[in-house]
Amino acid sequence: MNYSEAVMDHFTNPRNVGEIEGASGCGTVGNAVCGDIMRIYLDIDDDSVIRDAKFKTFGCGAAIATSSMATELVKGKTVQQALEVTNKAVMEALDGLPPVKVHCSLLAEEAIHAALWDYAEKHNLVIEGLEKPVSDIGEHDHHHGVELVEDADD
Ligand code: FES
Repeated sequence: MNYSEAVMDHFTNPRNVGEIEGASGCGTVGNAVCGDIMRIYLDIDDDSVIRDAKFKTFGCGAAIATSSMATELVKGKTVQQALEVTNKAVMEALDGLPPVKVHCSLLAEEAIHAALWDYAEKHNLVIEGLEKPVSDIGEHDHHHGVELVEDADD
């Protein structure tokens, strides 16, 4: 398969691998067909700016490259601007993906959306234009129900 240099770069040297403890939002999505799973953590400040983003991906090389790029692209953006980090934007930033790998970039978009959805839920906010992705498998510590407390720890 022909991958761009950017894809190979983000696959062999992925940015932002890891977890954020006490993240403002965390989203986990999965693709039932290939079985790949992607989790994205976001640290969002009081001005709705994404200060940090990290990911953990159990998946193919393109899924790793797209989560690496997606986390790079959302950092420093507001929550509203982060919605513009679509799978197309991620693919463009990576100079394209082979057709059979387009769904990997969709997983990255959905993981961002799932993390934003989690953030909105935790903070009792509505993010205009955001929908909960159907691929959200919500496998993260979310046992508090409605939680209006500001993140005290970090
Ligand atoms: Fe499914 Fe890459 S093959 S996410």
